[in-house]
Amino acid sequence: MAVLVKTNRRVTMAARPEGFPKDSDFVVDEVEVGDPRPGEVLVQVLWVSVDPYQRGRMSQVRSYAKGLEVGDVITSQSLGEVVESQDGRFAPGDLVLGQLGWQEYAVARGGALRKVPEFLDPPTLALHVVGMTGMTAYFGLLDVGRPKPGDTVVVSGAAGAVGQVVGQIAKLMGCRTIGIAGGPDKCTDCSLYGYDVALDYKDEGFRDELKAACRDGVDVYFDNVGGEVSGAVHGRLNVGATIVICGQVSQYNLERPEPTFHPSLLIVYRARMEGFLVTDYAHRYDEAALRLARWVAEGRVVWREDVTDGLENAPAAFMGMLRGENRGKALVKVGDRTAGPTGAK
Ligand SMILES: NC(=O)c1ccc[n+]([C@@H]2O[C@H](COP(=O)([O-])OP(=O)(O)OC[C@H]3O[C@@H](n4cnc5c(N)ncnc54)[C@H](OP(=O)(O)O)[C@@H]3O)[C@@H](O)[C@H]2O)c1
Repeated sequence: MAVLVKTNRRVTMAARPEGFPKDSDFVVDEVEVGDPRPGEVLVQVLWVSVDPYQRGRMSQVRSYAKGLEVGDVITSQSLGEVVESQDGRFAPGDLVLGQLGWQEYAVARGGALRKVPEFLDPPTLALHVVGMTGMTAYFGLLDVGRPKPGDTVVVSGAAGAVGQVVGQIAKLMGCRTIGIAGGPDKCTDCSLYGYDVALDYKDEGFRDELKAACRDGVDVYFDNVGGEVSGAVHGRLNVGATIVICGQVSQYNLERPEPTFHPSLLIVYRARMEGFLVTDYAHRYDEAALRLARWVAEGRVVWREDVTDGLENAPAAFMGMLRGENRGKALVKVGDRTAGPTGAK
């Protein structure tokens, strides 16, 4: 069955950003949408995710995934509704998740899509707490950080999409939690996210406040930001501490990363520093999703979304997130769910 969809609005990379991205690095264009072939599904995108890793995809620095070329649609996790399916596992009206990019429609292989569980309310949880950022918090803290009850866990980027979940899981594990975030509003948010203490790294007295809060030292440091904030935390480690390298967002727009880490620290504190990628744990996504969804349903994990309306505003939402303007998980609402050919809502 051919569908009525004819054009697709998309956000593509107009130029490779140098330093901090700017408006002219992005362009909105329109192209024709093709019909799905056997094994493919046509999806109307309803929500797209805005994430720091997208900055890495725009650069030519060697990384774990292929970078974007000028003219490519900006890569993103997206949530959408099946419009037409040539794959027996999907039917019109199904809500699905996939790497569909910043665009209104996408034709994807059925094998590259996951159905959003019916019980998820709102379904956008699949883009954060019960999706990539929640699982990053879950595996990064529990499998890499391995905190013990009573440990002091420090988290940078504590009020962001990953950080908001890390604090709450650490609290559920019986840890003492210290969140580091930018500005008083985000520090207020931290108290909702299970942090016993919230520190503003933009505050002049940050280093002294960190010292006072970490009088018993730091057992696990969950690092989302790197740079000077992490340099301050490294000085407060306990012997046998673990540093979880989740992200280094303070460095993503710099031409040359700042040299704030000194490997001799690992000798002094007999510490372990380990980087990880959430995709390393793909074989355990169901375990994490079930546990996270249960914690949300029980009210033991709360969350906040920062929603921008309209696909054309995705670049502004992205640059705002890199400047720290998002309070909670940055998302862009692209469209509303339609009844679909089967009448499914
Ligand atoms: N390893 C993995 O598999 C994996 C998966 C997902 C995400 N990550 C990483 O996790 C980190 C957090 O991602 P997210 O999606 O949760 O983003 P997020 O925290 O919701 O948003 C990014 C935040 O970074 C902070 N930031 C920006 N510039 C900074 C600077 N110079 N110094 C300190 N903080 C700065 C801002 O918060 P403030 O207002 O507090 O400054 C901003 O809100 C990122 O580094 C990301 O790359 C890793």
